[in-house]
Amino acid sequence: MAIDAVEVQSAMPNHRARTIHVTVNGVPRESHVEARTLLVSYLREHLRLTGTHIGCDTGHCGACTVLVDGTPVKSCMFLAVQSDGSEVRTVEGLETGGKLHPVQEGFHKEHGLQCGYCTPGMMMTSVALLAANPNPTEDEIRRGISGNLCRCTGYVNIVKAIQSAAKEMAAPPKGGP
Ligand code: FES
Ligand code: FES
Repeated sequence: MAIDAVEVQSAMPNHRARTIHVTVNGVPRESHVEARTLLVSYLREHLRLTGTHIGCDTGHCGACTVLVDGTPVKSCMFLAVQSDGSEVRTVEGLETGGKLHPVQEGFHKEHGLQCGYCTPGMMMTSVALLAANPNPTEDEIRRGISGNLCRCTGYVNIVKAIQSAAKEMAAPPKGGP
């Protein structure tokens, strides 16, 4: 189990520190955090998982989306202590064994990004969307990602990327029967 350093965000004595146990991208963590620490800050500043972005910091843009027990969560609106006992998955946890996740492949293949700022959150929402609905219609995709804002792409290629990932995930494994 990885044990992370105590966070000191304030010069004042910290009487509200908590110990949390979270599995992040498959790695069990025991961390000491202030009760006020946001999940996005815990991920970025404690664990140095900077793939999770901060856009608006007010719950609107979705750039900070991660999965907590499989559910997309805007980590700028979620306390680290709320993730105690949970499995957290970030964009860094999508790749397995050097192989990109089909959603990552889809965004690459269909040019589903330009600046890339929204992309980690958009991909995490897409992963959850496809887990709940493996064959979504275009309308379902658009509604599914409506909490994630993109200022660059116009969403057309993002929708194509998710459709591509759905197709890939539905295909039988290569070399299989
Ligand atoms: Fe969290 Fe925008 S940074 S919703
Ligand atoms: Fe730039 Fe989405 S690719 S905000």
